[in-house]
Amino acid sequence: MSISVYGQDVERILVSEKEIDAITTRIAEEIDRDYENEEGKLVLLCILKGSVVFMGDLMKKIRRPVEIDFMRVSSYGEGTKSTGRIKIHLDLNRTDISECNILIIEDIIDSGRTLSYLSEYLRINGAKSVRTCTLLDKPSRREVEFSSDYVGKTIPDEFVVGYGLDYQEKYRALPYVGILKREVYEH
Ligand code: PRP
Repeated sequence: MSISVYGQDVERILVSEKEIDAITTRIAEEIDRDYENEEGKLVLLCILKGSVVFMGDLMKKIRRPVEIDFMRVSSYGEGTKSTGRIKIHLDLNRTDISECNILIIEDIIDSGRTLSYLSEYLRINGAKSVRTCTLLDKPSRREVEFSSDYVGKTIPDEFVVGYGLDYQEKYRALPYVGILKREVYEH
């Protein structure tokens, strides 16, 4: 099979399809075990857009009943600098939030601001419990202290795309996580 057009822009694969499969299997087992004795619903909350591929694969491997929901948020930026404030574009709109054990699903943690804010936001809004799950974690980029309950893989500070992650809305459909060639984003 010939390499995809977008695949040609990838310097090297950082997390292969096989490794992603092993990660989603492991995390699904951990989730099944950890929520076994929890009362209430388990709600997987996908943070759009980057988490949609990870969420889709992970939810198929969780054996206990789950509901799914979606939010879309972004950081307010000042030029290229993040101000650290989070804007909600699509909110969670549930009347049963007090019965929900919410597990936030992210593709990546960078500064930590998104998950830190969202965890607090959902608690304040009355969620029964809030935990977090991320495919990728870049601890070297943290601006606020935050650690996720479930982590697929800790990675170095590289520009990664694929498996949901984008550069200018491209590369999300690649089936693996790869490091983008510098020449693509340095003009
Ligand atoms: C990414 C990622 C997280 C956030 C993490 O989303 O999906 O939501 O950034 O960064 P932080 O830890 O510094 O807060 P992005 O804004 O790129 O949106 P997208 O998922 O729609 O691509």
